[in-house]
Amino acid sequence: ENSTQAQPTRGGCPVRHSEGACPASALAAAFDPFEGPYQVDPAEALRWSRDQLPVFYSPKLGYWIVSRYDDIKSVFRDNVLYSPRNALEKITPATPEAMKVLASYGYAMNRTLVNEDEPAHMERRRVLLDHFLPENLEAKQEMVRRLTREKIDGFIDRGRVDLVEEMLYEVPLTIALHFLGVPEDEIERMRSFAVAHAVNTWGRPTPEQQVEVAHAVGRFWQYAGEVIEKMRADPDGEGWMHYTIRKNAEIPEIVTDSYVHSMMMAIIVAAHETTSLASTNMFKTLLTHRDAWEDVCADPSLIPNAVEECLRYAGSMVAWRRETTAAAQLGGVELPAGAKLLIVQASGNQDERHFEDGDRFDIYRDNAVEHLTFGYGSHQCLGKNIGRLEMRIFLEEMSRRLPHLRLAEQEFTYLPNTSFRGPNNLWVEWDPEHNPERANPALRRGSVHFPVGAPLRKEIARKVRVSAVRQEAGGVLGLTLEDVRGRPLPRWSAGAHGELCLGEYERKYSLCGRPDAPGYDVAILLEEQGRGGSRHIHEVVRPGTELKLRGPNNLFRLDESARSYVLIAGGIGITPILAMADRLKMLGRDYVIHYAGRSRASMAFLARLESDHGGRVRIYSKQEGERADLPAIVDSLAEGAQIYACGPARMIRALEDLCAELPGNTLHFEHFSAQGSGLDPEKESAFEVELMDSGLTVAVAADTTLLEAIRAVGIDLASDCCEGLCGSCEVSVLEGEIDHRDLVLTRAERAENRRMMACCSRAKSGGRIKLA
Ligand code: HEM
Ligand code: FES
Repeated sequence: ENSTQAQPTRGGCPVRHSEGACPASALAAAFDPFEGPYQVDPAEALRWSRDQLPVFYSPKLGYWIVSRYDDIKSVFRDNVLYSPRNALEKITPATPEAMKVLASYGYAMNRTLVNEDEPAHMERRRVLLDHFLPENLEAKQEMVRRLTREKIDGFIDRGRVDLVEEMLYEVPLTIALHFLGVPEDEIERMRSFAVAHAVNTWGRPTPEQQVEVAHAVGRFWQYAGEVIEKMRADPDGEGWMHYTIRKNAEIPEIVTDSYVHSMMMAIIVAAHETTSLASTNMFKTLLTHRDAWEDVCADPSLIPNAVEECLRYAGSMVAWRRETTAAAQLGGVELPAGAKLLIVQASGNQDERHFEDGDRFDIYRDNAVEHLTFGYGSHQCLGKNIGRLEMRIFLEEMSRRLPHLRLAEQEFTYLPNTSFRGPNNLWVEWDPEHNPERANPALRRGSVHFPVGAPLRKEIARKVRVSAVRQEAGGVLGLTLEDVRGRPLPRWSAGAHGELCLGEYERKYSLCGRPDAPGYDVAILLEEQGRGGSRHIHEVVRPGTELKLRGPNNLFRLDESARSYVLIAGGIGITPILAMADRLKMLGRDYVIHYAGRSRASMAFLARLESDHGGRVRIYSKQEGERADLPAIVDSLAEGAQIYACGPARMIRALEDLCAELPGNTLHFEHFSAQGSGLDPEKESAFEVELMDSGLTVAVAADTTLLEAIRAVGIDLASDCCEGLCGSCEVSVLEGEIDHRDLVLTRAERAENRRMMACCSRAKSGGRIKLA
C-alpha cells in the first residue's frame, strides 16, 4: 500500500463555510497529532472541534479529522462509502530512500482484514471467525491467570516495579503468540519489531529515522515470511495462524497468500501492543482515581465494567483511518471522494453528546461498553474479548493481592504517533510489609471467574440513598437521591433519565432537579394500572432508603442550536420538560411551556414552574375544562422552532400527525423504549421458529428480534452490533424463507437460504422457519 500515498492538498481550509471566515481555521491549522496537546490528551485536544467544528481538515496531516461520537460511528458503520483501505498505510509518506530500503527487502504489506474492502473482507472474516468466539476463548483464561500469577509472585516482595517491564508487555505478547500458534522461541525477535511497525504506520519519523525504521520493517517482513514457512511445516499445528494457513491451502482465493504474509506481520501489533497499552492505561487511570481503585478492590464484580470504562476513557487505540470512495457529507461538511479521514475514537469516547459527563471517569457508567476503542461494525475488533479477558485478570489479581498499590512519582513518556497510546513505563510502589497475603495466604489464590464477553448491563448500577421525600402533587412522590458514600454524582444534561432498581423493580425516571443541585431529583407517579412497581416505591421508600441507580443516560437530547422552543408536557411528562426549561433559561433562549393535566391538584411542579418560568408557562387543567390546542400550537410555530414533547402516547401520536409535513428536525419526543429492538410492530409481522437442536418452538413477536426471542428461552447466542453489520449472530437455516436485512451475507448466500443473521433478519411475512 506504500505506493498509493496521495499527497494532501496543503494550505487553507477547504470547507465551504456559509458566512465569513472559517471559525476554527486557526485551531485547525495548528492541529498536529504528533506533538503538543494531542500527545498529552487526544480527547481534550479536540474538545474545541467537538464543540465548534466536528469535521475539519488538518493541513499539517493532510487528513480530515472527525471528533464527534455520532460521526465516527456513522463512518465505521458504512464501510463502502468510507473504505478502510488506508487503515495500515504509512501516515507519513515514505521518503524515496526509505522506499528503496523497503523494496530491497521485498516488502509488500497489503490487505489483511482490517484494511480489506467488501465483499472480500466479510468472506474472509467469516471463514476465520471461529477462534474468536467466546466459547472458544473460555479455556484461555487459565493460561492468562497462570502467567499473571507467576509474574506477580516474582515481584510482590519488591515494593517498586515498572509494571510494563515486569508484566504488561510480556504477558499479552505470550498470550498473543500462543493464540496465533507462533512458536514460543520467536518471542524475543517478534518483540523487537512491533515498535518499528507502529512508527512506520502511525508515526512521523524524521528522514533519517525513516531509513532506520524501513530496515527494521523490512527485516520484520522477511522474518514474518520465515515464520509462516516454519508453520507450514507443521500442518496440524494449533492456533489461529495455523488455521489460517490451512484455510489458505483450502480456499486460496479467499484466504490469499498475500493476506497470510501481511497478517502475520500486522497481527503482532494488533493482538499484543493494543492489549499491553490498554492494560497500562488501565492501571494508570485507576490508580489516579483512587475511589474507583478502592471500589474495585472491595468488590471484584465491578471489574468487567471498570475495564470497559478504562477502554472508553483511556483506550489504547485513539484514532483509526478511513477513506471516502465518493463525495460524502459528514458533520455538516462536504467531503470529496478520496478524502482521508482520521477518526479519533478517544474524542468520540468522551463526547458528552453521547456519554453523560463524558470526560469524567466513572466505573458505574452503564453504557461504557458503547465506546469506540474496538472500532465498530463489520471490522470491529475480532480480538476484543481476548483483550478484555486479559485486562480483567490483570486487574483482579493485582487488586486482590496488592490493594495498597500506588502510582510512583514519575514523568510519563509516549511513542509519538496518531493511534497507539499508552505510557512506555508505569512505575508503581507499595509496602511489602503490608501485603495482605502475608497475614492471609489464601489471598494468593482466591479468584473470581468472569465469563468471556461484554459486561452485562443489568449488573451495572451505582448505590444511592434517598435523602429527601416530598409529595409533589396528588399521587406524585418526589425523591432526592445522593451517592451512598457522599461522592458527587455525574453531571447530567436536560432530558436525561436514571433507572431506579429496587429488588425486581427497574424503571426509568427523568431527572428533574435544578441543574446545580448536588443530588438527583425524580418524581414518581403512582400508577394504579401498573405492575405494582410504583406502588412499591411509594410504600417503602423513606429518607435513608438505599437503592440502585443506573445511568444517567440521555435519549431525549435538547438540540441547543434551534431558534426557539415549544415544550409540551402531559401529566408526569413534565419531568424532562422542566429540566429542558431550566437549561433554556440558563442559555437565555426563547421558549414556552404548555403543560396539560387532569387537575391542578394532580400536576407536579406548578409552584416551581411559576417561580422559575412564570410568564412562559400555560397550564391546562382538564377538570377546569381547559385543553391544550395542539393544532393551534403547531400552526403558530415560528420558523426554526423545535418542539420537545413528553406525555401520553395519544398526545405524542397527535403531534406526530400534526408535524408530518414539517422539517424532520421539528418534533422531538421521549421514547423510553429506544433501547429495545426499535421494530415497529405495525410494520412487522410475528413468526414462529423451530429450533431443531433443542426441540423448542419459539414465537417471535412483531416488535421482537429473532435474537431476543431465542435468548428469552435461555439459549445463548453471540451478538455484537445488533444491526446486521458484524456477522456474530449467524444461525443456520434448515427450512423457510428469510427476509434478509443484514449487510453480511453475499447475494449468493442469501439465495442459498442456509444462514441468517438473527439480530435483524426475519421470516418472510407470516412464515415459519426451522433453524439447526
Ligand atoms: C481490528 C482495537 C485487541 C485482532 C481492530 C480495530 C481496532 C482494534 C480499533 C479496527 C476496528 C474497525 O475498523 O472497526 C483493539 C484494541 C485491543 C485489541 C483496543 C485491545 C485492548 C486485539 C487482539 C486481537 C485483535 C487481542 C487478536 C488476538 C484484531 C483483528 C482485527 C482487529 C483480527 C480486524 C477485524 C476486521 O477487520 O474484520 N482492533 N484490538 N485485536 N483486531 Fe483488535
Ligand atoms: Fe452483528 Fe447480528 S450482525 S450482531
